[in-house]
Amino acid sequence: MFPLKYGLSETVDSIFRRAKEGKALFVNRKVLTPEYVPDKLLFREKQLNGVAEVLAPVLHGSKPSNLLLYGKTGTGKTAVAKYVLGRLQTETSESKLAVSYVNTRIAGTEYRTLAEFALSLGLSRKEIPFTGLSIGELINRIFERIRSGERHVIFVIDEIDYLVKTHGDGSLYEFTRAGDRIIPGSLSLVGISNDLKFKEDLDPRVLSSLGEEEMVFPPYNVEELKEILKERAAIAFEPSSFSESAINLCAAMAGSEHGDARRAVDLLRIAGEVGEREGLQTIDDTCVKKASDKMEHDRIEEAVRSLPLQNKVILLAVSRFIGGTNTGEVYLAYSSIVKKTATELLTQRRVSGILAELDLLGLVEAAVVSKGRRGRTKRIRLLLEPETLNKILGEDPALTGLF
Ligand SMILES: Nc1ncnc2c1ncn2[C@@H]1O[C@H](COP(=O)(O)OP(=O)(O)O)[C@@H](O)[C@H]1O
Ligand SMILES: [Mg+2]
Repeated sequence: MFPLKYGLSETVDSIFRRAKEGKALFVNRKVLTPEYVPDKLLFREKQLNGVAEVLAPVLHGSKPSNLLLYGKTGTGKTAVAKYVLGRLQTETSESKLAVSYVNTRIAGTEYRTLAEFALSLGLSRKEIPFTGLSIGELINRIFERIRSGERHVIFVIDEIDYLVKTHGDGSLYEFTRAGDRIIPGSLSLVGISNDLKFKEDLDPRVLSSLGEEEMVFPPYNVEELKEILKERAAIAFEPSSFSESAINLCAAMAGSEHGDARRAVDLLRIAGEVGEREGLQTIDDTCVKKASDKMEHDRIEEAVRSLPLQNKVILLAVSRFIGGTNTGEVYLAYSSIVKKTATELLTQRRVSGILAELDLLGLVEAAVVSKGRRGRTKRIRLLLEPETLNKILGEDPALTGLF
């Protein structure tokens, strides 16, 4: 079908050969992706029942209370919310019920969050253009839609902390006091937050309304993570293509910071990909360790990629000193590099502050060392491979010509 005009390279050949010889380890890779909602959610009975109880009144035409779910990442909040909403929708043929779900971080802006909500209520693209309406007008159209449709609407706002952090709680304030404006329809909010402290950012009136009901999702322990992974592995992989010890290692690694099921599931998926790529018969501990290294590598790359320009320039300055140096030297190198870019020169004090941020991200090490009677200084060292850094920074058009 494809005439081989150019001989296949050795690597392409060997990749295909290995794929043919090695067996497929996955039967269903999809069940290990972040979007998949499992049929069975373990260790979350209390939360599942709790959410169901709060939302149940909608089935006999009353407005459910607002609900706030919070807990660290990977504690099953999104999965529980989607699961209960899914059941709710199959439970009723009630056309007066509308369920909307938006993740504000994925939507990106307040406008897009509200526009997605509006479209899910059946408003058209003509009524809700990509840009141009004010937030107030968007909210008016949403309210009018709910009122005229006489619908009971449940709006799940996932990663609500992102919306509040980036755009404040103005639209939430409007939603919580929609009341009379949408009668005979109603609007109930289910807010989901990964950040436990997010309540501090809310106007007390928004908080008391949004938090009418609250539910906390505790981290999983290692034993629970093992069970979750076993269930998932049984449907994701061919039987006997994974070792129990690999599952246990994924659970232990994901449980070491806080019991994060997302990390556990990601580790298992990537371990499977490593095993398949290497043509192995079973996924073993080594695959899991390689998966963990890859995730850490990806995390670092992403952290560098999303840095503000000044921070990138400072990182580049640090990378000029193999084996590390002190703040003064970094500042000198930074000053000479920054001249070749279109950004202003920051003070040494500000650069020190940014170095501390880069330390927190795990990109540089900024350790205070004593110099005896000459006082203390900071030893600055790059924590990633200079080649990796150059590759990523090279993608930034504002830094071209520096490599
Ligand atoms: N109790 C559970 N049983 C099975 N899988 C779970 C459970 N809790 C979480 N998961 C899985 O872990 C991953 C992360 O869960 P998620 O609900 O997205 O966490 P959160 O929203 O709290 O960050 C998803 O793949 C989800 O399917
Ligand atoms: Mg989530």
